[in-house]
Amino acid sequence: MLLKQCYNFHDFRKLARKRLPGPIFNYIDGGADDEVTLRRNTEAFNQCDLVPRVLQGVKDIDLSVDVMGTKLQLPVYCSPTALQRLFHHQGEYAVAAAAEKFGTMFGVSSLGTVSMEDIAQQFNTPQVYQFYFHKDRGLNNAMMERAKASGIDIMMLTVDSITGGNRERDLRTGFSIPFRLNLAGLWQFVSKPMWGINYVTHEKFSLPQLQAHVDMGGGTSSIGDYFTNMLDPSMDWDDVADMVKRWDGQFCLKGIMSVEDAKKAVDIGCTGIVISNHGGRQLDGSRSSFDHLAEIVDAVGDQIDVLFDGGVQRGTHVLKALALGAKAVGVGRMYLYALAAAGQPGVERALTLMKAEIERDMRLMGCHSVRELQRNHVRFR
Ligand code: FNR
Repeated sequence: MLLKQCYNFHDFRKLARKRLPGPIFNYIDGGADDEVTLRRNTEAFNQCDLVPRVLQGVKDIDLSVDVMGTKLQLPVYCSPTALQRLFHHQGEYAVAAAAEKFGTMFGVSSLGTVSMEDIAQQFNTPQVYQFYFHKDRGLNNAMMERAKASGIDIMMLTVDSITGGNRERDLRTGFSIPFRLNLAGLWQFVSKPMWGINYVTHEKFSLPQLQAHVDMGGGTSSIGDYFTNMLDPSMDWDDVADMVKRWDGQFCLKGIMSVEDAKKAVDIGCTGIVISNHGGRQLDGSRSSFDHLAEIVDAVGDQIDVLFDGGVQRGTHVLKALALGAKAVGVGRMYLYALAAAGQPGVERALTLMKAEIERDMRLMGCHSVRELQRNHVRFR
């Protein structure tokens, strides 16, 4: 299968599976425990039907949205994800370049394999930095200062990961960070020559935080162990309120899954929240992100920008989330499979297809602008 034969999420996933060693593919693909929430995230969209209007004279379509002080030309953005250069040597550079081309934003992960400074200098996209709150307060302060100095527009603190989710696929495959070739997995790597050549012929990345983990005796471990050992489980609302004050700019909490927490985010001065369950990778058995969307928008949507991610594979999923009041919609695996499949051209093709789907669906819904999408455009079963 070739890139040009990819027409949807499932095609990119197939191609990524072919190209990546098993442990790496499963790291992207998997979720926590029995992966109930992972599946639910996408299934939830099927409980909600679109209600089209006809004869609306739809010629031009405006896909732009205003999010946390910046304008996006596409209502879809690339959610922050870790370790991208492990999936393809172009990693974050490819995703940032594609996001720039589509006029949307891309979040650099705290566990990114390219520095926030490099991305900020090279790309003219709204700059988002995803923050993990570490036990080491000095490291937290240093990361905040670096983010300020490099002109980050939106600080996005992930709050659903104070300990590692139970990702059993990673335990079975032996996926570890820093990444090591072990004997058991050697065949996997030999059998994926495209990935192997890419990996050995390009400059290796290093992650300072991961090195600190190794230096502290953590050695190589699953990503879940990294969270558990390095991130601060005692983080509370006071810590976050303090960060919001010190940041003094656009500040967003990623991983809000209740009305109560959404209201607290408003109270401490956040300017945005992302309804997200980390793509089903943390607490299994929680509701889908989509199931929370309407009630959270109803509670705080007029006071804070509500963003949304989890399970998005299709343009129609994006339309449903926007109709319920999301300001913009994040995608994770959708662009990661495309990155793994083909680097920058892969991510660009994934976003091209997504944009075309949204435009087509908007016409079929009789909408001129994504801002026109309202509750009367959907019905729940
Ligand atoms: C993630 N996600 C994530 N979130 C975060 O705040 N920091 C991170 O470093 C990562 N890393 C990461 C790696 C991989 C491989 C995946 C799949 C996900 C979660 C991500 O931002 C987003 O919330 C989900 O991916 C959304 O769900 P979908 O679109 O993947 O279903």
